[in-house]
Amino acid sequence: MVYVLFGPPGAGKGTQGARIAAQYGVPTISTGAIFRDNVAAGTPLGLVAKDYMSRGQLVPDEIVVQLVKDRISEPDCAAGFLLDGFPRTINQAEILEVMLGEAGIAIDGVLDFEVGEDELVKRLSGRRTCSKCGATYHIVAVPPRQAGVCDQCGGALEQRADDMPEAIRTRLHEYQAKTAPVLAFYRERGLLREIDANASPDEIFAKVLAVLPTAAAV
Ligand code: AP5
Repeated sequence: MVYVLFGPPGAGKGTQGARIAAQYGVPTISTGAIFRDNVAAGTPLGLVAKDYMSRGQLVPDEIVVQLVKDRISEPDCAAGFLLDGFPRTINQAEILEVMLGEAGIAIDGVLDFEVGEDELVKRLSGRRTCSKCGATYHIVAVPPRQAGVCDQCGGALEQRADDMPEAIRTRLHEYQAKTAPVLAFYRERGLLREIDANASPDEIFAKVLAVLPTAAAV
């Protein structure tokens, strides 16, 4: 199975992606998470990406495309994968189409998580992420059992640099200007599956499962 998880910053792509990956046993390729790991490790890729990300701007297409190309050729992607945060521009979508076509891979669907802007701002400003394992929480909607501590590994929870008010505004603007047009690209190809994501994570996951094939059929 190959699905694209689509939607504005804070729509819940990462939250739902973790659940889908667990249910279907496929890896999630989150370009944002790969960049954050590289920033934390101080790699050359991380040094380039850091400035764009902290300002809330998109990283240049050529950098992201190469990263995805390398990642989907790894053995764990042979039975399928989820793309979270890619493609994010029409150019990225066109390159992905060619890249997958050459590899004989078809996208099964694009799950578009739709959430209003006020709710997005609430979700982003309340998000806390584990500094050790990357698990995501929300101080109100998805709180950890103990404030500031990850339920899964005991790591310290922190706020992402791009979840500050100025960067949130830029990310939402970047989404409308550069990423939202990608919806029409996939609608034309009959791949778009729109999901009203103004609900709890459990309710949204039920809607996702109603769209995806049963795990046994994959
Ligand atoms: P990336 O990491 O992809 O960030 P994003 O798209 O902005 O998405 P988020 O991770 O912020 O949100 P999400 O939709 O995953 O929501 P989540 O599940 O965490 O990208 C970061 C940066 O990297 C970009 O700005 C760019 O610089 C760069 N980049 C990445 N990919 C790129 C590309 N292809 N091209 C160029 N640059 C790229 O949920 C958010 C919060 O809400 C959490 O606290 C969660 O607990 C909570 N929550 C989730 N679901 C619910 C719910 N149903 N109800 C209430 N709260 C909820």
